[in-house]
Amino acid sequence: MEFLSFMLFCFFFFNSSVALDTMTPNQTLRDHGETLVSNDKSFELGFFSPWNSSNRYIGIWFKNVPEQTVVWVANKNNPLTNSSGVLRITSCGNIVIQNSESGIIVWSSNSLGTSPVLQLLNTGNLVVKDRWSDNNSGSFIWQSFDYPCDTIIPGMKLGSNLATGLDWYLTAWKSTQDPSTGEFTYKVDHQGLPQVVLRKGSEVKFRSGPWDGVRFGGSPEIKTINGVFKPIFVFNSTHVYYSFEEDNSTVSRFVLNQSGLIQHIVWNPRVGAWKDIITLNSHECDNNYDMCGPYGICKLVDQTTCECPFGFTPRSPQDWNARQTSAGCVARKPLNCRAGEGFRKFKGLKLPDASYLNRTVASPAECEKACLSNCSCVAYANTDVSACVIWFGDLKDIRRYNEGGQVLHIRMAASELDSKNKKTLVFHLMMAISSALLLGLVVSWYVVRRRTSRRIAFGVDNPNQSFSRDIGEEDLELHLFDLVTIKAATNNFSLANKIGQGGFGLVYKGELPTGQEIAVKRLSEDSGQGLKEFKNEVILIAKLQHRNLVGLLGCCIHEEERMLIYEYMPNKSLDKFIFNQTRGTSITWQKRFDIIVGIARGLLYLHQDSRLRIIHGDLKASNILLDNDMNPKISDFGLARTFRNDQTEVNTNRVIGTYGYMSPEYVIDGLYSTKSDVFSFGVLVLEIVSGKRNRGFYHPDHDLNLVGHAWKLWNEERPIDLVDVFMEGPSPNSQVVRCIQVGLLCVQLRPEDRPSMSSVLLMLFSENPMLPPPKQPGFYTDRYIVETDSSSAGKQPCTPNEVTVTRLQGR
Ligand SMILES: *[C@@H]1O[C@H](CO)[C@@H](O)[C@H](O)[C@H]1NC(C)=O
Ligand SMILES: *[C@@H]1O[C@H](CO)[C@@H](O)[C@H](O)[C@H]1NC(C)=O
Ligand SMILES: *[C@@H]1O[C@H](CO)[C@@H](O)[C@H](O)[C@H]1NC(C)=O
Ligand SMILES: *[C@@H]1O[C@H](CO)[C@@H](O)[C@H](O)[C@H]1NC(C)=O
Ligand SMILES: *[C@@H]1O[C@H](CO)[C@@H](O)[C@H](O)[C@H]1NC(C)=O
Ligand SMILES: *[C@@H]1O[C@H](CO)[C@@H](O)[C@H](O)[C@H]1NC(C)=O
Ligand SMILES: *[C@@H]1O[C@H](CO)[C@@H](O)[C@H](O)[C@H]1NC(C)=O
Ligand SMILES: *[C@@H]1O[C@H](CO)[C@@H](O)[C@H](O)[C@H]1NC(C)=O
Ligand SMILES: *[C@@H]1O[C@H](CO)[C@@H](O)[C@H](O)[C@H]1NC(C)=O
Repeated sequence: MEFLSFMLFCFFFFNSSVALDTMTPNQTLRDHGETLVSNDKSFELGFFSPWNSSNRYIGIWFKNVPEQTVVWVANKNNPLTNSSGVLRITSCGNIVIQNSESGIIVWSSNSLGTSPVLQLLNTGNLVVKDRWSDNNSGSFIWQSFDYPCDTIIPGMKLGSNLATGLDWYLTAWKSTQDPSTGEFTYKVDHQGLPQVVLRKGSEVKFRSGPWDGVRFGGSPEIKTINGVFKPIFVFNSTHVYYSFEEDNSTVSRFVLNQSGLIQHIVWNPRVGAWKDIITLNSHECDNNYDMCGPYGICKLVDQTTCECPFGFTPRSPQDWNARQTSAGCVARKPLNCRAGEGFRKFKGLKLPDASYLNRTVASPAECEKACLSNCSCVAYANTDVSACVIWFGDLKDIRRYNEGGQVLHIRMAASELDSKNKKTLVFHLMMAISSALLLGLVVSWYVVRRRTSRRIAFGVDNPNQSFSRDIGEEDLELHLFDLVTIKAATNNFSLANKIGQGGFGLVYKGELPTGQEIAVKRLSEDSGQGLKEFKNEVILIAKLQHRNLVGLLGCCIHEEERMLIYEYMPNKSLDKFIFNQTRGTSITWQKRFDIIVGIARGLLYLHQDSRLRIIHGDLKASNILLDNDMNPKISDFGLARTFRNDQTEVNTNRVIGTYGYMSPEYVIDGLYSTKSDVFSFGVLVLEIVSGKRNRGFYHPDHDLNLVGHAWKLWNEERPIDLVDVFMEGPSPNSQVVRCIQVGLLCVQLRPEDRPSMSSVLLMLFSENPMLPPPKQPGFYTDRYIVETDSSSAGKQPCTPNEVTVTRLQGR
């Protein structure tokens, strides 16, 4: 008898409960551990209690994350107090949660449809659909994705369907114990250019900054975290929304938490914990909406400060100095809509709030005209999604970014424009004079060096100098290609063949008639270099043969055209791999280690083993090419030597190198040695280990760059946390830590503390863990300020946009 009732129970249980992803109207889901599990086992739906609470809720959580993480809650404002709840779908298509004892319904979806089924999809979307409808049509009677709580997962949207009036927005939980509607909301505002606004109650706390077609203006970080997720933004006449996609092996979520922080969080399976990779509103300037008042610009140098843009002064100077900045700034010369008014350009900003889209205007020039022709228009900007954005009234909540940001044109009185031009002229004149001085200094320094050195040298002063005594012309195997061949090979330098752009010119892919693939570096014109000099340099480069250096096949010289022909590397450069990782495409530790060792060997050859001592001067991830077997090959070595003049127009610094990789002694004092390459190498090692760029590195807790972050982790005795989240395969901790230590030794502040490349190689392979402890690194923060006002230039190091900057340098 007992056996029979057990059988009956089982029968009843299996018949009425669900072990699958789908429920029909005659089934129920009870609070006895019964759940719906999506077909691919990535999401689960069932009853749960939040931390430190005994209330019962229906929620959806990640099935494959051990720590229960709820992404959606149905009855968040109406919990059940005990486990007598059931979930079911009525035959009319309504989902209900009710107390099975009292029959009271605590939540329902209020949906209506015939022959409905309830299904938890692989995306985590709980849907009610018609049993007979096409499974792939994507049309649902009801879906949980239309009612976000505090979390967005891929496939969910933040925005509005303008046709149906449905808004998708986030609402924070009240507290960790209580998922009911909290004070914070994060909602797309599409009055002007779309932006997302965080409110506490009705008070605006933060706005993302407008969408410019690439990213939210206020969130340059979003763009830098590619590989983890891809932001999607749709803005057309029926839809405006933000969403994101991720690699299918990544688990991440975008959350508005109870204290109003907006974060993108990724599950790190290696550590077994969630890790926030972006906090959108961690910055004081962001999180204090309009803190600098009308026209005030908020920026962070050592601390958060407000400044008035050029042409503006504090409205209330006394308060301003006392850091009471809410009154903002006023124009020194008020606008009165007279002729002659114009615009000044300000770069690197978060565009002000309350923009207006002029949809009739197509081009930037017209936009300027449209704004100028309306007396109440005070500023305009051009973005990718809309050609013309204009502002009326006070400009509010502007922030200056240290990197990234957008361009705003602010209207000025005629006299302000004049003074700008005069100042610019003086500024350029001064820069020209100081450049000339620098040139003189370097030339004389160089001449002195030449007299005292027997090493290979090249003539800045005397192009007729011959170097054959040093390099020996006897065994030259340098191929001279003619222009016709190169043009044919590269399809007449067609854009489709362009594969890169370096500091010295564009790079094209080509194919010789023999079928050999080549890379053609077309040096920018006016190198100001004699033919003989150029040839000598090329010969010098061609003599450097090593498996970790890119092979130079020859060159092409035609009138002013100078081209270098290299072997073609099918795998492109290292940066494409390490900074663009997703789990599927990530490089294993073994490969990374091999790459590090290969680069070290190539560099050692340049420094010591070749007949000429070469300092690379611009070692960086994009200068490391990878062959078919992913062997690293250093490129652009010796090229710096062929260029004396600065080719980049804006740049007056004359520093060869790339910010983020240059050693402090070089940037500051222009001192340059093999130890400068060692510094760059150290940066590269940390980048390879972490998969992050040194420059532009972002961490919510501090303003350090990657080097600083690595140093911090090292001191906190958790260096392993630096390791790329996406790295696959086994990674022997001791070897990883050794690499990090070597990287940190290489980036030490004092050049004399850094190891030579030969010691680096020894250390990389030493099984003896007794490496010296690294000392403080150089340049562990890279938050340079990009000033666009000529009036303030010179106070801060200039950071031109160009990747590579060039310093006049001889050895
Ligand atoms: C539940 O309903 C479905 C469709 O309405 C039907 O196919 C199934 O047999 C029913 N199951 C039970 C146990 O009644
Ligand atoms: C857990 O809940 C109890 C009762 O609601 C409360 O008194 C206690 O402070 C909570 N614990 C924490 C750590 O919040
Ligand atoms: C569960 O809660 C409901 C409503 O609060 C109540 O009617 C019912 O008696 C409770 N059941 C148990 C077993 O406590
Ligand atoms: C939809 O999928 C379900 C379960 O996967 C299947 O039973 C049903 O036949 C499908 N319906 C159609 C119209 O393909
Ligand atoms: C707007 O974009 C959405 C999503 O991509 C698309 O479904 C819709 O058809 C688009 N509407 C128009 C008018 O282009
Ligand atoms: C990820 O997606 C790709 C392409 O859609 C597919 O080939 C691959 O099998 C997927 N991987 C997993 C783990 O689902
Ligand atoms: C919100 O997130 C931050 C950062 O992860 C955390 O420090 C804070 O405690 C969270 N707030 C709440 C209420 O959970
Ligand atoms: C939009 O631009 C057009 C064309 O320049 C102009 O005629 C119109 O006044 C502008 N609208 C507003 C509101 O400024
Ligand atoms: C200027 O723009 C404002 C605000 O859109 C509008 O009301 C006004 O008519 C415009 N003036 C002119 C002359 O176009």
